[in-house]
Amino acid sequence: MQEMRLPDDFFFGAAMSGPQTEGAWAQGGKLENLWDTWSNESLDDFHNRVGSYGGNDFTRRHDEDFALLKDMGLDSVRTSIQWSRLLDRDGAVNPEGEAYYHRLFASAHAAGLEVFVNLYHFDMPTYLFRRGGWASRDVVEAYADYAAKAFRAFGKEISCWFTFNEPIVEPEMRYTVGEWYPFAKDFSLARAIQYNICIAHSLAVREFRIARSEGVFADGARIGLINCFTPPYTREDPSAEDLEAVRMTDGIANRWWLDLVTKGELPQDVLETLASRGVRLPIRPGDEQILRQGTVDWLGCNYYHPERVQAPAADTDANGDPIFADPYVWPDAVMNESRGWEVFPQGIYDFGMMLHRDYPELEFFVSENGMGIEREEQFKDASGQVQDGYRIDFIRDHLLWVAKAIADGAKCRGYHYWAVIDNWSWKNAFKNRYGLVEVDLSDGYSRRPKKSASWMRQVATTHVVPNKEEN
Ligand code: BG6
Repeated sequence: MQEMRLPDDFFFGAAMSGPQTEGAWAQGGKLENLWDTWSNESLDDFHNRVGSYGGNDFTRRHDEDFALLKDMGLDSVRTSIQWSRLLDRDGAVNPEGEAYYHRLFASAHAAGLEVFVNLYHFDMPTYLFRRGGWASRDVVEAYADYAAKAFRAFGKEISCWFTFNEPIVEPEMRYTVGEWYPFAKDFSLARAIQYNICIAHSLAVREFRIARSEGVFADGARIGLINCFTPPYTREDPSAEDLEAVRMTDGIANRWWLDLVTKGELPQDVLETLASRGVRLPIRPGDEQILRQGTVDWLGCNYYHPERVQAPAADTDANGDPIFADPYVWPDAVMNESRGWEVFPQGIYDFGMMLHRDYPELEFFVSENGMGIEREEQFKDASGQVQDGYRIDFIRDHLLWVAKAIADGAKCRGYHYWAVIDNWSWKNAFKNRYGLVEVDLSDGYSRRPKKSASWMRQVATTHVVPNKEEN
């Protein structure tokens, strides 16, 4: 693809999350979240036995980090408030937690960065998990109360709010494939959790609107949802069963959230199929009215890799729960072997075009996109700088498809790279590095820009995405 130009008002920024950066896990009155509890109970589960405790030392280094982002030409940063830091066990605001976030946001603003705040990034406080977590309506309501308190504490400082990051991931990772604590493999429970998260999201949006009507925010405040989206692909010559696998994958992973945030309802065909296969959702009288409140001002789309599916080999799993799709391995797939994820930049265009067609009013931005590479020190030059040309290729190819989507009518307003500064990646800890800035664990978490940092400065300040030869 030839060089392309992004609109002048297109924004560039950095995505990160509280639990993956802050560290200081037991300071300032912070309570344990599930990552801390899992780290305490079974540190061997984490790469090189690096648990949640230190993050990437952001709490001590945020001034330096914001200066690095600004120097790269970025204009915004998204992070998350940790529920377990902002509120105490009784649901009251923890003054030290509140003071920390005021300092953090002031530091970003002083550097000239707009701050986007997300309220939940896979970080359930453990005491609430022990009360039932997302399976419990009391916890769902506690989340709405937490959101209301966050809006009121920071409403004058923050205009861009998000209720959840990737609400599909906890149902998958904690309750379907069982890779994350509490390691459940229960499709029905996962869908019940997914449903309750929608109620939590909608209640939080309602709180946002109440706060907005009471003048809690500065003018222009917006609420959104961030999820990972990709149109599901299947084999080139699909059977009716393959297409059915696409319908249900798309229904659960995409349309479920897109219908919620644009229409305030969940897709009827998906609900009917789930019911016909014995999956019961914890629907209560009055829920329809709650979901109606869940429409948002805009959407964040995290995009790393496409989803490819085919008809399942078996209809049900060991619990008797339905299986709707099996993975399909595309023979032409280009892989990022470090992460085991396919690299398919066109997916971001296809998603943008799908929104343009099916949800034409919905504005969005690319809220995460990035490439995690293992043993990145092997790519250091004689001066010790990581020469990450592969990452430049990755970002450029995605941005070219973003530019094409915009040219073809998609309402894509900006791009946030994950994670501009290397951070802690859940179970993989620091195995795969995503950053445009290296974090050196052997040197007290010191920061050093990689080659891609100056490439990003060039693109973010000119809005011109070069073609490959111009890198
Ligand atoms: C997204 C998440 O799914 O992908 C981030 O919002 C995560 O929290 C990122 O870190 C990259 O995935 P991973 O598992 O390699 O860290």
